Amino acid sequence: MAILVTGGAGYIGSHTCVELLQAGEDIVLLDNFSNAKPQVVNRIKELSGRDFPLYAVDILHREGLEKIFAREDIEAVIHFAGLKAVGESVKIPLDYYQNNVSGTINLCQVMARAGCKKIVFSSSATVYGNSTDVPFREDSPLSTTNPYGSTKRMVEDILRDLCASDPEWSACLLRYFNPIGAHKSGLLGEDPNGIPNNLLPYIAKVAVGQLERLNVFGNDYDTPDGTGVRDYLHVVDLAIGHLKALDYVRTHKGAEAINLGTGRGYSVLEVVKAFEKASGVTIPYRIAPRRPGDIATCYADPSKAKKLLGWEAARSLEEMCADAWNFTRRQQSGESQ
Ligand code: WQD
Repeated sequence: MAILVTGGAGYIGSHTCVELLQAGEDIVLLDNFSNAKPQVVNRIKELSGRDFPLYAVDILHREGLEKIFAREDIEAVIHFAGLKAVGESVKIPLDYYQNNVSGTINLCQVMARAGCKKIVFSSSATVYGNSTDVPFREDSPLSTTNPYGSTKRMVEDILRDLCASDPEWSACLLRYFNPIGAHKSGLLGEDPNGIPNNLLPYIAKVAVGQLERLNVFGNDYDTPDGTGVRDYLHVVDLAIGHLKALDYVRTHKGAEAINLGTGRGYSVLEVVKAFEKASGVTIPYRIAPRRPGDIATCYADPSKAKKLLGWEAARSLEEMCADAWNFTRRQQSGESQ
């Protein structure tokens, strides 16, 4: 039996595919390549030394999904496929609701018909909204402040209701904090199209001279140095968390929301300093106005993941920055994806 990884050519999906294959799992990779490069598939094969079926299918395309479940023996689904840019979601909300919510409903209907009732879902800490109740626990109040976050919260509710309607279903709703870094090889990493929205890929492009300087969005927050504090976790730690969640849905029924974070927050300026130390490159920056929608502080209480999944983040901020820098340098030289 195989694990279907939707969005498997994406940043977190590709790192998860490598860990799954190296752990001996069989996978089927689905991606519509709207925000991923086809050569990532070759990198996954190169790094794992294993082959797997690939389907260039959109989760909105029911016939395409039905073909996969007819041809492949799918035991469970790790569901990454979806649109994920907060700012973009404000501009094109219908695309976000259609892709992220209708697409997931489509996927679950095809899964149910095929008798496949185990899912690990890519949710997000963004469901905690602008709560100040840090560290965030899974039972902290939820509130979303943008369409992207609302799609994640809606899908969580849909999967809870699905599990309540049919005791054969099991769902792990993984709430990611801030994934950064890259595979140790430098062959896989975060490679957003255009100018990055997120901090680390933006810093990386400044470090290689593609962008002039970092704009630090506000230094007047109620934090130790005034800049935003986030819970950054290494993408490989996050990928390994999915393997633990897969084992959990294999042995448990029902729906569980679980934070995947380190439990430690770092400010923007601390990240800049860590990246400068890892790369040996000075990162020029200026203090810019706050970004609308940003909160001051966000970090996880990761105790439930340790208790239920036996998972905790292992890699340091220094390692995250060193691996991100290694990927960026290899990308510059044309060696990676
Ligand atoms: C981190 C910090 C910024 C860029 C987002 C999504 C969230 C999740 C992770 C999907 C903040 C500051 C950033 C820059 C800056 N994605 N910053 N200059 O906003 O915490 O979370 O990505 O699930 O849903 O909201 O991440 O990397 O954008 O920002 O000063 O050029 O860096 O203000 O304090 P964020 P981020």
